[in-house]
Amino acid sequence: MKKREMFTFVCFICILTLFGAPSLASDNSCLDCHEKLTAFNEKEKQLNEVRIKHLERDVACSLECHATTLDKFAKSNYEQWTRSKHALFQVTCNNCHGGDPSSDVKESAHIGVLRSSDPNGSVFYRNVPETCGKCHTEEYNQFKESLHYQRLKDLKQAPTCDTCHSPHEFKVLNSTDFKDLCSSCHNIELEIAPDIPEKASKAIENAQALKSEIFKARSAIQRAKQQGKDITAAQKHLDAAISIQDNLPIQWHSFNLPHFQNVTDEGINYARTSQEDSGFPPEKPKTPGFGIISSLIGMSSIYLLVRRK
Ligand code: HEC
Ligand code: HEC
Ligand code: HEC
Ligand code: HEC
Ligand code: HEC
Repeated sequence: MKKREMFTFVCFICILTLFGAPSLASDNSCLDCHEKLTAFNEKEKQLNEVRIKHLERDVACSLECHATTLDKFAKSNYEQWTRSKHALFQVTCNNCHGGDPSSDVKESAHIGVLRSSDPNGSVFYRNVPETCGKCHTEEYNQFKESLHYQRLKDLKQAPTCDTCHSPHEFKVLNSTDFKDLCSSCHNIELEIAPDIPEKASKAIENAQALKSEIFKARSAIQRAKQQGKDITAAQKHLDAAISIQDNLPIQWHSFNLPHFQNVTDEGINYARTSQEDSGFPPEKPKTPGFGIISSLIGMSSIYLLVRRK
């Protein structure tokens, strides 16, 4: 190490010691160490900006000069993880990566931690379903029924758990992101069942319909109760609908859309029966009749004519 480099390095250590790296007390060495990999708190950031300015005039070295790319990667994965539900529920790095979370020496802590490119590793994409399946058994069992899983096993391109639940936030997608994600493979160019995104949207809409029928059944039961009616049968059918709804996020993972549709329809039937049981039968599905449509067209043309003038 040259003298000037030595000085910068020592100075860097001083800054860290003086202001202390931020730390969340924990007894998990993966978290303790990864949190600090390239940690700079606000004070350190300011000092480092000054430091960079000095260095710029003199030595060709930037703020990152002591951090390797993998260090940065490991740190940003840590940060994403802190925003996940896993962090909230104490699902830590070692639960998916292995290793020894009681050792604070990198080399021994990392024993058994394999890179994501290693086919024997727990985070190699083909092994990911098993790794997640240790805890998410129901999703895993459904997923094993899917064509996605079969393709993965046949060593072909197909989504694995973290394709859809991006590491390390492991979020559940909303319905808009959802369609984009499916179309990244299911499109005309790749010729992998290009009709899937449309069908998946329909399935989501149907699940929304179930939600709203359950809402109506709930208020029907409420009203029946107020009128002193017997609600036993209505409640039983509502409960059946709710239990189907609760299971839908798990059901998704067999990626069998016709089956998903059938199960959802069954739930909708239960909810509508419950409304009937309460004495507030569901309204007939409204399809705007010819009369309504033509009067709407008439009204809007009059409106446009008036606005023109
Ligand atoms: C004393 C510090 C330290 C501890 C403890 C530690 N790590 Fe690391 N880890 C690092 C550093 C530094 C890197 C960046 C690459 C390198 O230097 O190997 C890294 C890289 C990684 C990587 C990227 C792949 C690889 O093998 O390089 C994974 C995955 C990982 N750590 C997981 C863990 C897990 C799981 C634990 C706990 C069982 C853990 N780490 C404990 C410092 C640590
Ligand atoms: C719920 C499981 C899970 C948890 C918890 C988890 N990871 Fe990961 N991690 C994965 C998966 C899956 C991959 C592979 C992703 C990919 O292929 O891009 C991965 C990849 C990585 C990589 C890149 C390694 C490489 O070889 O490419 C690093 C670094 C890493 N994780 C660090 C961490 C750290 C640090 C923590 C804890 C703060 C953590 N992970 C927690 C599942 C997890
Ligand atoms: C050690 C057990 C464990 C492992 C392994 C694990 N998880 Fe989790 N996961 C949990 C717990 C606990 C929760 C929070 C409670 C819940 O939602 O069920 C959770 C929640 C989730 C959620 C819901 C997040 C939300 O915002 O609602 C997703 C998605 C998820 N995990 C995906 C994964 C994926 C993908 C993997 C594998 C890469 C994985 N999990 C591995 C235990 C685990
Ligand atoms: C092709 C995309 C895709 C793959 C692959 C996938 N999921 Fe999901 N996952 C979803 C979607 C979409 C939802 C949300 C369904 C909903 O909200 O109705 C979801 C929801 C979840 C949830 C939350 C369930 C709940 O009760 O809210 C968990 C946990 C989960 N997935 C785990 C996994 C695991 C574990 C794997 C691998 C075995 C996996 N997922 C594979 C798309 C996927
Ligand atoms: C990484 C690529 C990829 C992504 C992302 C993906 N799929 Fe697939 N999917 C495939 C492959 C490959 C097949 C198998 C096609 C075949 O061999 O017929 C498949 C098959 C399917 C099938 C069965 C098709 C059939 O004809 O029976 C359904 C349903 C499906 N996917 C739904 C989805 C949904 C919903 C999403 C988004 C949440 C999604 N997929 C995301 C690659 C992908």
